[in-house]
Amino acid sequence: MADKIRVMLSEEEVDKRIREMASQISADYEGKEVHVICILKGSVYFCSELTKRMTVPVTVDFMSCSSYGNDTISSGNVKIVKDLDESIEGKDVLVIEDIIDTGRTLSCLMELLKDRHPSSLALCTLLDKPDRRLNEVEVDYTGFQIPDEFVVGYGLDYAQKYRNLPYIGVVEKED
Ligand code: IMP
Ligand code: MG
Repeated sequence: MADKIRVMLSEEEVDKRIREMASQISADYEGKEVHVICILKGSVYFCSELTKRMTVPVTVDFMSCSSYGNDTISSGNVKIVKDLDESIEGKDVLVIEDIIDTGRTLSCLMELLKDRHPSSLALCTLLDKPDRRLNEVEVDYTGFQIPDEFVVGYGLDYAQKYRNLPYIGVVEKED
């Protein structure tokens, strides 16, 4: 039977917030070019909705990473599954993430990117679950802070499903 999805943030709410974030980011980067790094796969939907509403010049690159061993208590490492195509040296880099949960992935990734000498480095996430944080991460732009629930939609998956939902929802298992 199909899973039931409870809406946590409607399509309208998410769209409205993304527009606000895009104008905030455009104002902050006025006169500059933003080099966006989209973290695959989850951030693709958010990244495209956000960047197409930004009014400053934008270039986009993609990166895919995974935490080492999900079952171990943080090894503190990330494995790069797909690295960037272009150098970020001297660029104003904005990392775009779908959700920050424990913070493990992003805290490692931001350190790694910092070592590649961008001119500036900032982090933007659609969702933040601060209750679950294990590793501190400095977030510059947050769409929504949400409670500790497993969410899907807008790029976020449950076993690779539901990424295409146009809203943020919670899977409610039928028993
Ligand atoms: P963390 O911050 O290193 O724990 O991991 C963040 C990654 O875990 C995200 O980029 C998502 O891929 C995944 N994730 C964390 N929470 C959720 C959720 O509620 N729904 C779907 N994926 C999640
Ligand atoms: Mg992700």
